[in-house]
Amino acid sequence: MGTAGGGRAARALRLLLLLVLALAAVEYLFGSILDASPLRTYLYAPMHNVTPTIKNDKLIMTKKLLIQGTESITNYTHTNSSNKNPAKETFNMTKPNLTDDTSTPLLITKIMESIKNLVTTEEDFRDEPSLPLCDEMPPDLGPISVNKTEIELDWVEKKYPEVRTGGIYSSSNCTARHRVAIIVPYRDRQQHLAIFLNHMHPFLMKQQIEYGIYIIEQEGTSEFNRAKLMNVGFVESQRQRSWQCFIFHDIDLLPLDSRNMYTCPKQPRHMSASIDKLNFRLPYEDIFGGVSAMTLEQFTKVNGFSNKYWGWGGEDDDMFYRLKKMNYHIARYKMSIARYAMLDHKKSAPNPKRYQLLSQTSKTFQKDGLSTLEYEIIKVTANHLYTHILVNIDERS
Ligand code: BGC
Repeated sequence: MGTAGGGRAARALRLLLLLVLALAAVEYLFGSILDASPLRTYLYAPMHNVTPTIKNDKLIMTKKLLIQGTESITNYTHTNSSNKNPAKETFNMTKPNLTDDTSTPLLITKIMESIKNLVTTEEDFRDEPSLPLCDEMPPDLGPISVNKTEIELDWVEKKYPEVRTGGIYSSSNCTARHRVAIIVPYRDRQQHLAIFLNHMHPFLMKQQIEYGIYIIEQEGTSEFNRAKLMNVGFVESQRQRSWQCFIFHDIDLLPLDSRNMYTCPKQPRHMSASIDKLNFRLPYEDIFGGVSAMTLEQFTKVNGFSNKYWGWGGEDDDMFYRLKKMNYHIARYKMSIARYAMLDHKKSAPNPKRYQLLSQTSKTFQKDGLSTLEYEIIKVTANHLYTHILVNIDERS
């Protein structure tokens, strides 16, 4: 009896062992097959819809903005499932999966990837079949005049029906060679806005580029932070559309020659070299303020602008140091082309800390810029002639 019982127990043990082995084999085989197969994507993708991630949430909002494209979209808020209380969301570009030991290029690549993931492909918005490429140098470019008299925005809006909601334009006759976001930091300059738009739209249309105008307004009463607003403009414009070239533009500067192409060459370009109020002379060789152009790659490689310049001055010099550190050099059109008229305005108080900040730039730029950018979008409005982004940037990133 004892031997028979022992034999049964041994057989049962062997059977159990076999079962465990078989189960392990099934898990190994099918697990790895599923891992490697598109089937896995298919099987697992719907999960994201059930529990939307912040990414997906933002994508939905982005689409909403572009598709609705009218009037005002208030309170650009998140209502993701983990956030039961739909409060305003502070956008912190560093948070997703980024650790302190990630090198800056990698960090920025990750940021750019996360931005790209939010952008719906261009094709979604192109209804036209492909047209022949626009001219490299469009016809009839040359010196132009500026009208500095105050005008009503309503009147300007009626003048340019060909501009699409959000201030977006591309020629209906040819495919643009350049996709350019015009980023304008803004506060308390209502009298300049209509003049700026009235001048810039026909100027840019003539250049046959595809462009969008983004007015980034700082909310609140803290000192103006031009550079941080431009970082926000970069991220938010890229969230909407895959722009390749970014022109950072003061609202009080109006180009006086349409041969001054609003495109991005191989090197970062300082555009406003020759300004009427500065007697059409370059104040100093390294100046990079007023109007400047950078590609997506150039801008991300230098980690964007610093977020630390509150008050007037220095932020453009800081960008110059960043570019120099990354072995770029500044390109410029000749002075007879890079001409601008400056609108009248009160001069702001210079930031006394700017020299101290500038002395640190080369050492600290990888830890201050796009990688540490924090802000809170208050309102995004797709107006006819421009996209208006009202933002709280007070978070001291
Ligand atoms: C400031 C720059 C400014 C330049 C020209 C410099 O002292 O630091 O921000 O663009 O002057 O006005």
